[in-house]
Amino acid sequence: MSQRIFIFDTTLRDGEQSPGATMNQSEKVRLARQLESLGVDIIEAGFPASSQGDFEAVQAIAAEVRGCQVAGLCRALDKDIDRAWDAIKGGANPRIHTFLATSPLHMTYKLRKEPAQVIEMIDHAVRHARKYTTNVEFSAEDGSRSEWEFLARCVDTAIKAGATTINIPDTVGYTQPDEFSALIRYLLEKVPDSDKAVFSVHCHNDLGLAVANTLAALRAGARQAEVTLSGIGERAGNASMEQVVMNLATRADLYKLETGIKTEQIYPSCRLLSRIIGQPIPPYKPIIGGNAFAHESGIHQDGMLKNRQTYEIMTPESIGRSGTDMVLGKHSGRAALVAKIKELGFNGLNEEQVNLVFEAVKRLADKKKKIFAEDVEALILEEIYRIPD
Ligand code: KIV
Ligand code: ZN
Repeated sequence: MSQRIFIFDTTLRDGEQSPGATMNQSEKVRLARQLESLGVDIIEAGFPASSQGDFEAVQAIAAEVRGCQVAGLCRALDKDIDRAWDAIKGGANPRIHTFLATSPLHMTYKLRKEPAQVIEMIDHAVRHARKYTTNVEFSAEDGSRSEWEFLARCVDTAIKAGATTINIPDTVGYTQPDEFSALIRYLLEKVPDSDKAVFSVHCHNDLGLAVANTLAALRAGARQAEVTLSGIGERAGNASMEQVVMNLATRADLYKLETGIKTEQIYPSCRLLSRIIGQPIPPYKPIIGGNAFAHESGIHQDGMLKNRQTYEIMTPESIGRSGTDMVLGKHSGRAALVAKIKELGFNGLNEEQVNLVFEAVKRLADKKKKIFAEDVEALILEEIYRIPD
């Protein structure tokens, strides 16, 4: 039996902190509606105390989105918590997400607080948030670089004060999968009331491990993953929603974990984000990049034409893409060309004629990176029907 994982999407908050990814209010509302169609469980709509614009955008999203929870981020300060609540209170199921740093580095240099004061602030902030709602998340910022025993005390304090979700961020993308899963296991074991809260993880990608660390934590017992579309976020970004979800879906045999994501909405969601922020999806990006379902080598194309599973571990249709792309180029084979010729409607070509076109394609591929359907059509007309270009 599979267990359900909650997907907490922070594209509109941490994602927007990605340089150049600022969105206006109507763009945020448009994207929030798409996230709802995608089936995320929680949308972190923004950080209401950070600006009037953010406050209004969060308020508009809470009013508009009824099918999932809407969270507002706030520091562990009464005035921030009050502001977050004012922004989200019109939502169908609002969540206050309050955070405080717990690592020695952050406590000493950023907060300038003693550990005992940090514990006191967590207790106060969570109790204050609980006056408004039972749906309270506490995040231990820089959790992965915190001392484990102290972190367990912080988590215990937050749960006793009423937090229903406990988030352990790898704020600077420093941890490693084995270490992070051991930390999650440790907290689940050591914190007396750990079963009273959903454990969550929030991983950054500074060393390229955000997705691996998230998956390792889920295997260790975390039940909420904080992610962003396409992995956008501070510095090198956050764990990418599509990669986390498709790992769980593709390797369900291993994880036995399921999400509420409608995977066929993944590509439309990432495309919408890309249009809104004006940043194209890199071609080599897993799952959503232009090359993710493109096959150029002749051996691969031949295998694909015989059985797609030879070189495709998920179908493009399953994530909302139109289909596989057999790229014609200098590495491509005859089988892909034959398929392309048929697709173009030239059904009567004999073997000798196909060979002529194949040679012409190879010659052109030496001069040009990608051969398009139009190029093949022009070559057929030129080589077989002797119609000049
Ligand atoms: O990376 C981080 O620690 C955060 C928290 C505010 C959750 O974004
Ligand atoms: Zn973050």
